[in-house]
Amino acid sequence: MSKLSAMLMRLVAMLVTVAALAAQGSVKPEPPCPDCRPASETQIKTASNEFRADVHAQKGMTCVSCHEAARDSSNAVSYTIKRNRIPELCGSCHEDATRMKQFNPSLRTDQLAQYRISVHGIKFVKGDMHVAVCTDCHTVHSIQPASDPHSSIHPLNLAATCKRCHSDAAYMKSYGVATDQVAGYVESVHYKALVEEGDLSAPTCTTCHGSHGAAPPGVTAVANVCVTCHVLQGKFFEESPHKQAFALLELPGCVTCHESHRIHPPDDNFVGTGKSAVCGTCHIPGEAAGKMADATHGNFRRLETDIAGAKSLLNRAARSGMDVADAEVELTQASDALTKARVSLHSAQPARVAADLDVGAKIVAQAYAAGSAAWRERNNRRRATVLPVLALTALFVSAGLYVRALEGKGRKGRSE
Ligand code: HEC
Ligand code: HEC
Ligand code: HEC
Ligand code: HEC
Ligand code: HEC
Ligand code: HEC
Ligand code: HEC
Ligand code: HEC
Repeated sequence: MSKLSAMLMRLVAMLVTVAALAAQGSVKPEPPCPDCRPASETQIKTASNEFRADVHAQKGMTCVSCHEAARDSSNAVSYTIKRNRIPELCGSCHEDATRMKQFNPSLRTDQLAQYRISVHGIKFVKGDMHVAVCTDCHTVHSIQPASDPHSSIHPLNLAATCKRCHSDAAYMKSYGVATDQVAGYVESVHYKALVEEGDLSAPTCTTCHGSHGAAPPGVTAVANVCVTCHVLQGKFFEESPHKQAFALLELPGCVTCHESHRIHPPDDNFVGTGKSAVCGTCHIPGEAAGKMADATHGNFRRLETDIAGAKSLLNRAARSGMDVADAEVELTQASDALTKARVSLHSAQPARVAADLDVGAKIVAQAYAAGSAAWRERNNRRRATVLPVLALTALFVSAGLYVRALEGKGRKGRSE
């Protein structure tokens, strides 16, 4: 096709468009956007409707705030903002500290810079248009701050936002990356705490991965992510033989035993070399570490059972009127000691775990002693009340016999 005919065709196309626009009339965007490229009426209506609740509309911005900034090759304002221009468009304001300060001095202005160093951003710059851009996480025309419960980035909605791509095996096929993170996370203790208990301190995807600098934590950083919240387990793990051994084997810290996403609330069966225990995946029952694991499992169970036994002894004493309140309070400290042992287990140092267990065992022993003493006292008191009662009963019985004997005599006397 010659250059001339190509130009002619474009001219005709433009005229047709203008004619169509004039005929429709109503395609005018709100507010007017003089040289916008045409989009369908429904698209504009939908966008306009959605935009009403958008934070940008609420701050007084209009369609042209974004659409004018995006001009096509012929310098016409375009409704079709190409995907490869979106981060730049959003960044044109959000990177501009002076501009953003006028609206909200506390709002960070590093999102684009962060995005550029994320896995998403690095691939994006290389031309991969499958990765997330700003609007994939924030929506196009319903952008709201994270604090708004309707926002795509509200903690309770975030997993669904990532899920759109990360659970779509077909979409993620070419990357060879797993697509089970959301499914795993939704089963986790964290998701349950967040969604079912409304505990907003429990992590969602971006708590661990960062929102704009989204990248998987590296081998050394994995433990760091968890320990920002689970400080004590982190401290003990740092001091454990596993710290160095795992690093040498290039294994991550916490998630080697707990998994990254499908994190379940562990119980004492998780310690040891038994069926549902984690230590057995690396240690053999007979070897030193395996022995320690199995012994620890046994010790945890024993202390738990002993605490329960002491508790029911004290309960029974309390129910029969004995004052064992002090012992009951002290016994809760035995449970605390067991909790501490479950944490110090992360040191994989038998002496440390034993020290916590000993504290618990001593308290349990005291509780048993207090409970038994209360029972002895109860029995003594009972003996003290039983004797007079017996004596009285004997008295009544003998008195009754005496009366009957007298009555018998009287009857005899009358019949005589
Ligand atoms: C905060 C920036 C921003 C504002 C403000 C904005 N848009 Fe958009 N709009 C975009 C982006 C980015 C795209 C491209 C989305 C894509 O292709 O993924 C887009 C796409 C569109 C499209 C193309 C079809 C579609 O739905 O994707 C239409 C139509 C549109 N916008 C209309 C409007 C109208 C009408 C308004 C005002 C009521 C408006 N936009 C306000 C950023 C904005
Ligand atoms: C014309 C300038 C401009 C453009 C372009 C722009 N924004 Fe904004 N954006 C703002 C202003 C101003 C606010 C309001 C800040 C405030 O008052 O809290 C805001 C608020 C936001 C917020 C809420 C911040 C909060 O937590 O309070 C998000 C999220 C956001 N924009 C994302 C985007 C995305 C994504 C894009 C691109 C599609 C975009 N913005 C394009 C100016 C812009
Ligand atoms: C992978 C998802 C994702 C992408 C991509 C993304 N954001 Fe965000 N963004 C979030 C989340 C989640 C938050 C909520 C607050 C937080 O965790 O920082 C947020 C918060 C914000 C805020 C509110 C201010 C703040 O720091 O809290 C602005 C503004 C913002 N993003 C702009 C952008 C811009 C501009 C881009 C593109 C360069 C972008 N975002 C890309 C997920 C994303
Ligand atoms: C538009 C689709 C899309 C959305 C939405 C999206 N991502 Fe991604 N993400 C990708 C693609 C594609 C990759 C590149 C995969 C790869 O190379 O491993 C990626 C990579 C990642 C990686 C790095 C994985 C690796 O193998 O190193 C992490 C972590 C990640 N995304 C987290 C998130 C989180 C968290 C969210 C939600 C806040 C999110 N993504 C939303 C498409 C998306
Ligand atoms: C409690 C912290 C935590 C949460 C919450 C979390 N992740 Fe992860 N994620 C990790 C860790 C740790 C890794 C690294 C795993 C590894 O190296 O074996 C990871 C890895 C990933 C990867 C890369 C997988 C791979 O095979 O390379 C993606 C993608 C990902 N997470 C997405 C998500 C999404 C989506 C969510 C929300 C549904 C999420 N993550 C929630 C900690 C978390
Ligand atoms: C943002 C804070 C935060 C981060 C990061 C975090 N967690 Fe949690 N975690 C919680 C909260 C909150 C709970 C639920 C309340 C509780 O039981 O402590 C929890 C519960 C748990 C539980 C169950 C505790 C129990 O007593 O049943 C385990 C195990 C766990 N997290 C492991 C991890 C691992 C492993 C990582 C890193 C991959 C991690 N957590 C990252 C906050 C966090
Ligand atoms: C060698 C395996 C292993 C490693 C590594 C490990 N844990 Fe644990 N973790 C366990 C076992 C086993 C339990 C269960 C203890 C019990 O309940 O008897 C547990 C329990 C927990 C609990 C539940 C509360 C508690 O302490 O009972 C949390 C939270 C936890 N771990 C977090 C972490 C964090 C954070 C890291 C990394 C610093 C980590 N774990 C590393 C094996 C491990
Ligand atoms: C991912 C594999 C792995 C898991 C799971 C694991 N360990 Fe280890 N453990 C090691 C390695 C490797 C060493 C260092 C080499 C060695 O001394 O055997 C080690 C060392 C130890 C040691 C020190 C052994 C010694 O002789 O000094 C103890 C104790 C120990 N582990 C206990 C445990 C307990 C308890 C659990 C479960 C809560 C556990 N380990 C889970 C790999 C593991």
